[in-house]
Amino acid sequence: MRGLKLRDARDTDKDVVLDFCRNTWRGYGDFIHQVWDEWIRARKGRFIVAEIEGRPVGIAKISDFGRGEIWLEGLRVDPRYRRKGIAKAINQEVIRTLKRIKPRAVRFCTDQSNRISRRIGTEYGFRVVARFKFYWQKPRRGRVRGKVANLIDAGAIYDFIVRSRFLQLSSGLVAEGWVFREFSRRLLRSYLNEGRVYIIRKQGFLRGVAIYPIDDKDGVITLGFVDGDQSSIKMLVRNCKYLGARAAMEYCSVVVPTRFFPRIVEQAGYGQKQRVGQVVMQYMGDL
Ligand SMILES: CC(C)(COP(=O)(O)OP(=O)(O)OC[C@H]1O[C@@H](n2cnc3c(N)ncnc32)[C@H](O)[C@@H]1OP(=O)(O)O)[C@@H](O)C(=O)NCCC(=O)NCCS
Repeated sequence: MRGLKLRDARDTDKDVVLDFCRNTWRGYGDFIHQVWDEWIRARKGRFIVAEIEGRPVGIAKISDFGRGEIWLEGLRVDPRYRRKGIAKAINQEVIRTLKRIKPRAVRFCTDQSNRISRRIGTEYGFRVVARFKFYWQKPRRGRVRGKVANLIDAGAIYDFIVRSRFLQLSSGLVAEGWVFREFSRRLLRSYLNEGRVYIIRKQGFLRGVAIYPIDDKDGVITLGFVDGDQSSIKMLVRNCKYLGARAAMEYCSVVVPTRFFPRIVEQAGYGQKQRVGQVVMQYMGDL
């Protein structure tokens, strides 16, 4: 498109970008205002802006989790400038940047129903690697079951998680709301340090494990990993509402693979009306 320029985002772009991102999704709006300052400050990765005659008209964020793991997010084009090839130009810039970074894995997540986003992903060489259900609920008071795990338990919890059904179905990913990260010892340690891992033991054995990261986008608690026997899974899924109430959050969310888990989550009181599908796509080309 003529006059289109791609560059790093600057803080002076903020008002215009937040303005065109105000109503990205009906009934929800957008989360860009929540993450803007963090994205501008990030030293790793890249925050890209597309501008026409000095006016920002699109954005995309490349987040670098370290050790070659890249997460793409925040692709937006001003509704007044759509269908003019701006997202295409942004994506070409993203690919150029990735060729410099040379990551090991590049992923993004989109709503199952966002056909445009999936189509763009497929055109650029991404393939679906995992599917999830995202449930959201109002928190409710109740007794939190299990106990907060600490670093002493790290070895046993790591073994439990790498052998879990959840990780098998999730292609090795755990969820932080709409962001998915490769499970690793390092990631587990950071969740343990933050007190975000709960375990249920019976007769000395681990019967259930759950991780409840805080979703940076909305600042809410989300269950991003759970496994164990059915009654433990149910308790740990219910915990999410109780932990949300304890922290006075407006809502909480639960993310699980589309197979096996949804039935248990729904039995634990999460309704199908407050549920959407998520797909994670991964880049399969050479960089
Ligand atoms: C998705 C989005 C970034 C596309 O931006 P855009 O600048 O309009 O996209 P482009 O003009 O570069 O189109 C790229 C391709 O996407 C597809 N596409 C884009 N908009 C489409 C639409 N409304 N219907 C069908 N296909 C569409 C087409 O394949 C198109 O190629 P084509 O025009 O050659 O057919 C924009 O619609 C947007 O900001 N949507 C809301 C936020 C969002 O969904 N972001 C992705 C979240 S993961």
